[in-house]
Amino acid sequence: MLFNRAEMLNRRARHPKFKADEIIGALNLQKGAVIADIGSGGGYFTMRFAEAVGPEGKVYAVDVNAKLLAYIENYAKENRMTNVETVLVGESGLNLPEQSCSLIFLRNVFHHLNSPERYFKALKRFLKPGGRVIIIDYKKGTALNLIALMRHHVEEAFIQETMKNAGYDLVDRYCFLPQQSFNVFQAVEER
Ligand SMILES: C[S@@+](CC[C@H](N)C(=O)[O-])C[C@H]1O[C@@H](n2cnc3c(N)ncnc32)[C@H](O)[C@@H]1O
Repeated sequence: MLFNRAEMLNRRARHPKFKADEIIGALNLQKGAVIADIGSGGGYFTMRFAEAVGPEGKVYAVDVNAKLLAYIENYAKENRMTNVETVLVGESGLNLPEQSCSLIFLRNVFHHLNSPERYFKALKRFLKPGGRVIIIDYKKGTALNLIALMRHHVEEAFIQETMKNAGYDLVDRYCFLPQQSFNVFQAVEER
């Protein structure tokens, strides 16, 4: 049942309308980079990142859902991907090695966070100097679909305001996703 949820999330993530290739291209990933995919779901982006950073890099797949993480672990093992590590977290935060990540990625996860300002303040210590935080999330649309009904969206201005208050600068913003905002932040003191 939950394995189906992982596959459903991955099917959606790879659907052409969500432009995964363009997202990966915009991130300009380097071999050897260390990435945290927070709210990794079925792991579609975790696996894309793992391929991009190569065996000398690393991807932390972080989620509150142990069954989704088990799916990712299983997939990584079957495909001999040695650079993926799963991290189970509680709702309030996570623990990763200090200053380990050059990129922290959250796609369709920000709207799940209870106290986003506090969350991103705490997240800073896991970023390498100059590291980036990528936040992609659904914008409020006009269509009455499942995203709207379940309120799985967040105003882009709210994301930007929250990150400013948490001590980040907006360093890039992409507009090629039809349903989602795509913002790139760096910690103020790290630049
Ligand atoms: C809509 S799914 C997005 C999955 C994936 N990022 C993608 O783009 O396909 C949201 C994911 O965030 C996870 N999640 C929710 N709250 C979280 C939290 N506080 N920390 C980490 N993961 C969380 C959920 O378990 C779920 O896997």
